[in-house]
Amino acid sequence: MSAHAADDGAPAALAGRVVLVTGAAGGLGAAAAHACARAGASVVLLGRKVPKLNRVYDAIANDPAGLPEPVNYPFDLAGAGFEDHAELAARIQAQLGRLDGVLHCAADFAGLTPLEHTDPAAFARVLHVDLTARWWLTQACLPMLRQASDSAVVFVVDDAAPDAAYRGAYGIAQQAQLALLATLHAELATSPVRVSALRPGPMRTPLRARAYVEDQDLRARDPARYADACVHLLAPAGVAHRGQVWAPTP
Ligand SMILES: NC(=O)c1ccc[n+]([C@@H]2O[C@H](COP(=O)([O-])OP(=O)(O)OC[C@H]3O[C@@H](n4cnc5c(N)ncnc54)[C@H](OP(=O)(O)O)[C@@H]3O)[C@@H](O)[C@H]2O)c1
Repeated sequence: MSAHAADDGAPAALAGRVVLVTGAAGGLGAAAAHACARAGASVVLLGRKVPKLNRVYDAIANDPAGLPEPVNYPFDLAGAGFEDHAELAARIQAQLGRLDGVLHCAADFAGLTPLEHTDPAAFARVLHVDLTARWWLTQACLPMLRQASDSAVVFVVDDAAPDAAYRGAYGIAQQAQLALLATLHAELATSPVRVSALRPGPMRTPLRARAYVEDQDLRARDPARYADACVHLLAPAGVAHRGQVWAPTP
């Protein structure tokens, strides 16, 4: 099957598009990046560790289906200023000429701790990576996303239950992202930029391993089960979930 055509010969869901995936070396990020490439997208792989990024790059570049070549973008969301995010957007514009989607998979989670005992620096870093940096990146990319006829911003979020104690800044950022989604959706409702969120169930990833012992965690699923849901929200069909949080069954 060509990377630009689905099984039935119709154009693949993301054919000719450019998609930026953050946390691209992570459990869901890597699976979603590969699925986006399979759906025809040129994928910008954002992650902070080059060797890990290279593994994802190689898996996509060496896929026997002949997928569009991805681009690595090593980037530490915790240390980057807004100007670094703006430079990232400018480089995508210069190198790839367009941007049709941003998938926010990068997330920091310091483990389960009562707020009272949270390390103050870790609180600020996690809130920054899980909320502010997601917004900064979106803000820097918005001019390019507006130029596309149909583009998408997808926030991957966790359960935002207000009684979820001990998740610290990570838990707080989940609730704040719902406010970010609602605000952005209201402000972009008449624009070509669709905003939505994906809430996967428990997934077997390094992030979850900070809270659960892996071999006793029977609820966690392979993150690859949610990769197609990411593609769906980035593709035109994702319009059905505009402004909403989608929690698909794996
Ligand atoms: N796992 C679950 O059960 C679960 C459930 C619901 C929702 N989610 C959501 O799913 C998304 C993906 O998480 P995951 O489970 O796939 O976790 P993961 O495998 O730990 O991936 C998270 C990624 O974020 C990256 N990251 C962390 N801090 C960063 C920074 N400062 N700069 C750049 N990248 C940074 C990590 O990079 P490194 O590889 O360098 O550490 C990692 O690649 C997150 O939004 C999470 O909230 C997860």
